[in-house]
Amino acid sequence: MPVIAIVNRKGGSGKSTLATHIAAWLAHQGASVLLGDIDRQQSVLSWLKRRDPDLPAITPWTVDRGHILKKPPSITHVILDTPGGIHGFELAKVVMTADAVVIPVCNSLFDRESACRGHAELLSLPRVSSGRCALGVVGMRIDSRVQSTQTLRDWAGAQGMNFLGELGDAPMYVSGLENGRTLFDLPKDIHTTDLLKDWKPLLQWLRPIARLPGRAAPVISLVHSRRATTNSAFGPLVSTPSPPSS
Ligand SMILES: Nc1ncnc2c1ncn2[C@@H]1O[C@H](COP(=O)(O)OP(=O)(O)OP(=O)(O)O)[C@@H](O)[C@H]1O
Ligand SMILES: [Mg+2]
Repeated sequence: MPVIAIVNRKGGSGKSTLATHIAAWLAHQGASVLLGDIDRQQSVLSWLKRRDPDLPAITPWTVDRGHILKKPPSITHVILDTPGGIHGFELAKVVMTADAVVIPVCNSLFDRESACRGHAELLSLPRVSSGRCALGVVGMRIDSRVQSTQTLRDWAGAQGMNFLGELGDAPMYVSGLENGRTLFDLPKDIHTTDLLKDWKPLLQWLRPIARLPGRAAPVISLVHSRRATTNSAFGPLVSTPSPPSS
């Protein structure tokens, strides 16, 4: 069962926006999605409460910190939203079960510096360094009228990050979230179609991770020569119930 976590220490970087969008995209692909919220603000749960029941369903799940929770057996995909400031043991616990971590980064000096430190910590975790958990970086709230997207691209390239494009700054993200919707739930008009183009590199990268059919994007390998080790102190955050013994 693919688990995708959205992580950035920096508050307001777009984690919940990204988590809800990826969950909705997967739900539209026919997946049975669990949206886990380990953020004390429980932003995605408030969003889910506003979601129209006629839209593709997303199952809410509050992850109780420090406890291993069993997911319902019908679930095929898990998206985990995380709080700002997550690091150390909490971060390791999330990554322990993740197949991919997506890092949303706004284009400011402080945001980039914070993302750099977070990215370095993620790379130090065995599951990431061994290549079992893929890392991707997405530019968030990029206003192309005032910011050069090249700055962020160049920065990500210089850090050796797997850069998966940038999402434009648009009020539709804010208004959609108010109504329990994402861009993927809105009618396909000229505005949504234009904004959805930004998502192509990220979704193409996620497809094979999410085990969805489609053309796979080249994945930058983070496999290091160092062999993966498992710290048994870190239990997995997500566990699948074992089949009943016969
Ligand atoms: N592409 C975008 N265009 C415009 N506004 C956006 C975009 N992405 C996110 N936002 C807005 O930016 C704000 C912060 O986003 P979000 O809540 O997703 O960040 P977060 O990282 O989850 O924050 P926190 O660390 O507090 O949990 C929200 O008001 C959201 O609606
Ligand atoms: Mg949030």
